[in-house]
Amino acid sequence: MKMGSSAVVLEIRARSAHVRIANPPVNALSHAVRAGLMDCVGAALRDPAVDHVLILGEGRGFVAGGDIAEFDAPLQPPDMNDVLALIEGASKPVIAVLHGNVLGGGLELALACHGRVAQANARLGLPEVSLGLIPGAGGTRRLPRLIGVAPALGMILDGKPVGAEAAAALGLIDGIAEGDPVAAADALAAELAGSSLAGRRLGSRALDPTQANDAAEALAAARASVATQFPWSAARRAAIDVVAHGLDADLSDALARERAAFDACRAAPEGRALMHVFFAERAAAKPPVAAQGAAPAEIARCGVVGAGTMGRGIAIAIAAAGLDTVLFESDPQRRQPARAAIDAHFAAQAQRGRMTPDAAARAAARVSLADEIGGLGDVDLIVEAAFESMAVKREVFAALDRVARPGAILATNTSTLDIAEIARATRRPGQVLGLHFFSPAQVMRLLEIVRAPATDPAVLAAASAFARRIGKTGVVVGNAFGFVANRMIFEYQRQGEFLVEEGADPATVDRVLVEFGMPMGPFAMADLAGLDVAWRLREEIPAMRRTDRRYSRLADLVCARGWFGQKTGRGWFRYEPGGRRPLPCPDIAALIAAERARLGLSVRPIGDDEIRERCLFALVNEAARILEEGLAARPGDIDVIYIHGFGFPRWRGGPLHWADEVGVGRIADALRGWFDGGEAWLEPAPLLTRMAEAGIGFSGLERKGWIGR
Ligand code: COA
Repeated sequence: MKMGSSAVVLEIRARSAHVRIANPPVNALSHAVRAGLMDCVGAALRDPAVDHVLILGEGRGFVAGGDIAEFDAPLQPPDMNDVLALIEGASKPVIAVLHGNVLGGGLELALACHGRVAQANARLGLPEVSLGLIPGAGGTRRLPRLIGVAPALGMILDGKPVGAEAAAALGLIDGIAEGDPVAAADALAAELAGSSLAGRRLGSRALDPTQANDAAEALAAARASVATQFPWSAARRAAIDVVAHGLDADLSDALARERAAFDACRAAPEGRALMHVFFAERAAAKPPVAAQGAAPAEIARCGVVGAGTMGRGIAIAIAAAGLDTVLFESDPQRRQPARAAIDAHFAAQAQRGRMTPDAAARAAARVSLADEIGGLGDVDLIVEAAFESMAVKREVFAALDRVARPGAILATNTSTLDIAEIARATRRPGQVLGLHFFSPAQVMRLLEIVRAPATDPAVLAAASAFARRIGKTGVVVGNAFGFVANRMIFEYQRQGEFLVEEGADPATVDRVLVEFGMPMGPFAMADLAGLDVAWRLREEIPAMRRTDRRYSRLADLVCARGWFGQKTGRGWFRYEPGGRRPLPCPDIAALIAAERARLGLSVRPIGDDEIRERCLFALVNEAARILEEGLAARPGDIDVIYIHGFGFPRWRGGPLHWADEVGVGRIADALRGWFDGGEAWLEPAPLLTRMAEAGIGFSGLERKGWIGR
């Protein structure tokens, strides 16, 4: 017999009812699934031909959680807690048969069952805090009763799933099915059928005495760890409070309190920001509309040109993801050190336990060095990381065009040059694009996929798939100086330098932005990246030193002394030999004072608010220009770029989500005020002004049709 909606199907096989959730792609617990579960489980429990019920998930996983897309509105009945009450209260055993993702509401569903059998590939977790939420369907109540208060708090607060073996060790599941999971679940149900299920109803089960004794200590430790590791996370604090309350409250009180806290988190800034990022990341990962449906070329073998720091890092990133890579380097002096550095990288990964020694050796062996460009003849994608000069790049691309197989994709890792011009050095401009990795390439997740006017949409689709394959967050951007990431950061750093000229000191500017949530301030970041990189650009590109607008010479003066940042032990700050901690430097203070005197600027006290707002509003303003010019497809892409490229705090949702929270009107007003005061760089972008006048934020732009491809 078969019944049910399309989202949940009931089938009865030899007195075992199979309730199967089929809501692709991840079996999220949408309204239709909740309703389907209610109907199918209810029917199975009423049916005298059924002895026990199994709950299963169709497809790659069991259930990946509540349907996040429904979280911005009141949830429609039936309530998940009512579904779970029906399951937990059943007099027939109900067993969850788990595989793949068992996350959030999926794990809570499993916890309400009387037993849990998992396949070896199951990943079980409560990832709600990564979305700024807390478990909302009894997880905070049932999990501590099953595995103990401290381990439950561990899972709830770190949000990371555990594998089947770890789950078995925690007591989260009854066992891992060796063979047929349904047979294992039937066997468990038969075992339970003979005795009372009371002890298996976690919601109403009493905490056992050792669990109760350890609770106070576990809660205090959790509070202390959240205060230091996640001081911004109201969701984690709420989760601890709710777990504490649920330890001895009545079940219905506990569930009500948990749900109230869950609802508060959904509406709070942290939840809104993190859910926004969840969807923005997924939208950014998709190739542009024009490329959707294009069959992307399969990329199996890659090539890299240039074995400098960047080229090595790119080769490592690709090889680590399991793809063969030919690294071409014409300079014999650089080949051996590159080989040694790549081998050392993977050896260190093994030593730190991040890879098995075997996997590390295999990954290192995937990189082969070539001394002739012809070595790149049979690869599918080549990333050029040669010297940053148009003449060099054009020469390399002309040569690549001659040796690369037809259909091979040619990418440049340039961060400043015009990709259209590079493409014109080949006879296949449609196959040319930018792949802008961030340094260190083997670590940083951001990959700007730069589309030149001639780039074939199928090539963009292939590049998006390649980014995913090597574990990067690829975002398609347009071909303009600085692309998206660097162009915005220039404006942010510019304001930092102006503020220093006016009276702030670099350490204060950095402190304010770190307090905001950035991993480091603009000056420490410049020191880390190397001040010489931007200095050379300013030397080569006169437009970067505009004479018609205010220009701060401070960075040039620092560079003129040979102080290039961490690598020279001095930059905006001083560094102990081998140290990374920025220390204040009296020479820099003197240099700044001399420059202020030369400019005739009298030092004024500058408050933290002004520092934060000038730097970040400048960033937002530039983003508005970028959107208007069509260099980024959507505001969410810019948020993703800033989170993964510069560590903008994820819990603030990225610069443009944050801008909406602050209010675009307020930002436009502040910019207008500074502009009217003579700060030409802070003229509000036309789009920002238009948005402020219309009262819409960045999140409303696509709906309005003001941006789009
Ligand atoms: N609710 C609604 N949609 C969800 C979802 C959820 N809980 N989890 C995933 N999706 C959607 C994604 O938005 C994506 O949709 P798209 O194809 O339209 O972009 C699709 O399912 C596939 O997800 P994706 O993340 O691209 O697949 P993946 O295989 O890389 O990862 C997961 C799968 C489940 C690990 C990942 O999606 C995830 O972590 N989801 C959130 C889990 C969670 O936090 N659950 C608790 C919610 S309270």
